[in-house]
Amino acid sequence: MLRKWMVFGLSAGILIAFAGAGFGLTDDESELEKVMEKVNKANNAIKKGVRTPVAFKKMHKDIAKRSKELVKLAKESKPIKDAVGRAKDVANPQKKWDEMMDDFIAKSEMLEGTANKSEPDYDDTKKAFSALSKTCSDCHKVFRVEDEKF
Ligand code: HEC
Repeated sequence: MLRKWMVFGLSAGILIAFAGAGFGLTDDESELEKVMEKVNKANNAIKKGVRTPVAFKKMHKDIAKRSKELVKLAKESKPIKDAVGRAKDVANPQKKWDEMMDDFIAKSEMLEGTANKSEPDYDDTKKAFSALSKTCSDCHKVFRVEDEKF
């Protein structure tokens, strides 16, 4: 009797494991989307913080931290090539991807540098953030064809 239950338990466990694996395979969120969601979270926090000098005063420490995170995420996303094949009207999408990612990395590093000064300046940080935001929309225009909200 005990044995039967053990066999049942085991096969149920295997079934659940299979179902779990199947779920993983049909999960339609790409690796890049996962990183982009984190990028977006950090980006939104910074956006809030540079809205006004008052907000900046309150949030500049968080902005400094988030900008570091963005540099890391930008570097993480460059080698994820999911989207390269989806580019429209681009002669050499791989080259374009690398260029745009390098720009994204460079602009987030500039923001990181500005935001992590001992006394970060509001205008400088806001400018660095605008430059960074442009790299998001530039790349989305080319590689994120279905949706251009950002
Ligand atoms: C070099 C290219 C590139 C840059 C730079 C870039 N993105 Fe993206 N982003 C993409 C691509 C490609 C997708 C679509 C991913 C997919 O659908 O697989 C995407 C998707 C997204 C999404 C949707 C994620 C989801 O769950 O569907 C958000 C939000 C986003 N990006 C925010 C940003 C923000 C904010 C920045 C700048 C701080 C940024 N991205 C910079 C290429 C880029």
